[in-house]
Amino acid sequence: MDSFSKVIVNGLTNIPKMKDFRKKMNVFSQAYNSVINSNLIYWYRNLEYVTGSQTSLNGKKMLMLDSYDYLGLGDDQEVKKAVSEAVLKHGLSTGGSRLLTGSTIIHEQLEKGYAEFKGTESAIVFNSGYDANLTAISTLFGKGDLIILDKHDHASIYDGARLSGAHIERFEHNNVDALAQVLEDCKEYENKLVVLDAIYSSVGDIAKLPELIKVIKKNNALSMVDEAHCIGLIGKTGRGIDEHFGMKTEDVDIWMTSFGKAFGSQGGCIAGNDSLVSYLKVFGRGFIFSGSLPVAITAGTLAALNIMKRDLSRKKKLWENVKHYKQGLDDMGFDTMNSESAIVPIFLGNEGIAIKMARILNNEGIFACPYIFPAVPQNTARFRTLMTSSHTREEIEFALKGFEKIRKKLKI
Ligand SMILES: Cc1ncc(COP(=O)(O)O)c(C=O)c1O
Repeated sequence: MDSFSKVIVNGLTNIPKMKDFRKKMNVFSQAYNSVINSNLIYWYRNLEYVTGSQTSLNGKKMLMLDSYDYLGLGDDQEVKKAVSEAVLKHGLSTGGSRLLTGSTIIHEQLEKGYAEFKGTESAIVFNSGYDANLTAISTLFGKGDLIILDKHDHASIYDGARLSGAHIERFEHNNVDALAQVLEDCKEYENKLVVLDAIYSSVGDIAKLPELIKVIKKNNALSMVDEAHCIGLIGKTGRGIDEHFGMKTEDVDIWMTSFGKAFGSQGGCIAGNDSLVSYLKVFGRGFIFSGSLPVAITAGTLAALNIMKRDLSRKKKLWENVKHYKQGLDDMGFDTMNSESAIVPIFLGNEGIAIKMARILNNEGIFACPYIFPAVPQNTARFRTLMTSSHTREEIEFALKGFEKIRKKLKI
């Protein structure tokens, strides 16, 4: 690692451990300003526009490899029309929380539409996926309960579990025997919840759901699955991981998704039975003590859901793109980890190499952000590139050529 990268990685990550608040903020602001002003590490870049496959920075058009808009729905004409019409009719704000003035017919249509798509009795919409996980887990479980998490579960799941006050245990990533052992060791808890990601956001692999659910049911525990990176993308009709594995939707007790990924929008959702959803509507603090999702965003998400249901050509194109892109990287010898999804990581390990690679990519006109500690453990730096249905074959070739150049330059 070069000395500047060392300062960034060590300096910034050690700061939160400092005790004295004023000293901590002082040291932090110096480190932060030197990082931002250096223009050597790419955080908080002010983009002029973003679509699934393109962006513009300082007037320069760039290829986007870091957008969650997997199906290009955020840039779809029908979706944009629904948003424009709703904003003209309803304005920006709903003026209150869902409990009071913030619920509209469109919020209800989205909840009903999503529950029907997912195959559950009910659904409840939150302002973000983070909010959905945080509020659901911390509302439904508490002191005296047990929450078991996969080591690679998303941060919002960890934060929800911590906020709940329940006892937390972790098990080795996607390891069925390790989960069985934790459940065996924790038999004394009456309420046990196991939370899984359907597709893990830092690796891109799929949860071994059928085997995991078998163990969960055998031990009389409850299950929750975060489908942020899989809804609309896997399963014959895009209904997610249960459809992908031919399971029953009711095999899982609590379903969660984010509208910020394949819907190209904003918001989150918990789907399950009526009583679960009603309970969150009354006791979910992140739901009742927060203004509701703007109607325009809700209308856009509803339009995106309707397209997702009827048009499977985007999903088909996405998987063709993923196959071509991943194969190209694998052929060059890059380590794309165990990716089985539109999340295609490029594992590097060394933080310094990741930072250098980001600079070269930037110069090549490719927008991709390095993932370094604390987003991932130290010495496991990677790029988490994302493929979408909007990428053309030429754009994918352009990306692969850029990576090939880098591989030669950095001798990776
Ligand atoms: C697996 C997973 N769950 C939840 C979230 C949070 O979703 P949102 O961005 O809608 O807050 C993310 C976001 O990246 C995620 O990757």
